[in-house]
Amino acid sequence: SEGQPIARKIIIDTDPGQDDAVAILLALASPEIEVLGLSVVAGNVPLHHTQRNARMICELAGRPDLPVHAGCDAPLQRKLITAEHVHGKTGLDGVTLPEPAMPLAPGHAVDFLIETLRREKPGSVTLVPIGPLTNIATAFRRAPDIVPRVQEIVLMGGAYFEVGNITPTAEFNIHVDPEAAKIVCASGAPLTVMPLDVTHRALTSRAWVEGMRAMGRIGQAVASWTDFFERYDREKYGSQGAPLHDPCTIAWLLKPELFTGRYINVEIETQGEYTLGMTVADWWRVSGRTPNATFIRDVDADAFFALLTERIGDLDRRSG
Ligand code: BDR
Ligand code: CA
Repeated sequence: SEGQPIARKIIIDTDPGQDDAVAILLALASPEIEVLGLSVVAGNVPLHHTQRNARMICELAGRPDLPVHAGCDAPLQRKLITAEHVHGKTGLDGVTLPEPAMPLAPGHAVDFLIETLRREKPGSVTLVPIGPLTNIATAFRRAPDIVPRVQEIVLMGGAYFEVGNITPTAEFNIHVDPEAAKIVCASGAPLTVMPLDVTHRALTSRAWVEGMRAMGRIGQAVASWTDFFERYDREKYGSQGAPLHDPCTIAWLLKPELFTGRYINVEIETQGEYTLGMTVADWWRVSGRTPNATFIRDVDADAFFALLTERIGDLDRRSG
């Protein structure tokens, strides 16, 4: 056939977050992807911040037309845990952006998810959750008919070799709403998981950040955000740079050949006294449980950062 291949339709479910912002920008910069909208959830910071941040990111990208729907403001059955110690008071500290002029799209994010999946062709919409899984789980619970219509889910969350970041045994997105993560893991929808094991290998370098800073407005914002949350990881892990967790999901959709992982069984701990929100990943295939997720372990970091440089650069030139 001739002409442009059809872009993959995605919905990004997000709690921005500086690394969420970079993921959203990468998706909006990429012609292989059509972002149908953003469904916003409480996570890194409360919803009143994350929904505002999502609109600021769209405006920065020159996309005030993109539907941004506010969703759940608290986990299914727990109190919200936030991460201002990582992301700052607003969740997007590091650069001051103008107050967004674009309004929120009408309708709750959960209704947006349900209506979009019912409207679009079955198997044609990919979900990209990069925050706690509350919106997705609520949609699946309320409208089980949409689950088989999902093309696939590519989420950032969990850890196996790296174990945890918000507790000794759990990664933030899963720990905040483990019941929601369990619903998503058990849904039967094709699932790819980007755990800390891979995202801690996607560490920014000084040269990359300075390359971003030398670009236009968008590159400069990315550089400042990265600098802001790098200080946390530097103090905690003594690591060289900041892990770009959430952009791994979009990079996987663009260039899966940059990643390696295993198709294994993953279960979510919702009971453990010390292990709440742990992703029990059967990496060594010892449980006999049926595989339900492609669990990613490694990334070609140089190629990953080259991709970000190229695409963010394109976006900056376009929005001139
Ligand atoms: C995840 O939690 C948030 O801090 C980041 O945005 C990412 O989605 C990493 O554990
Ligand atoms: Ca996030």
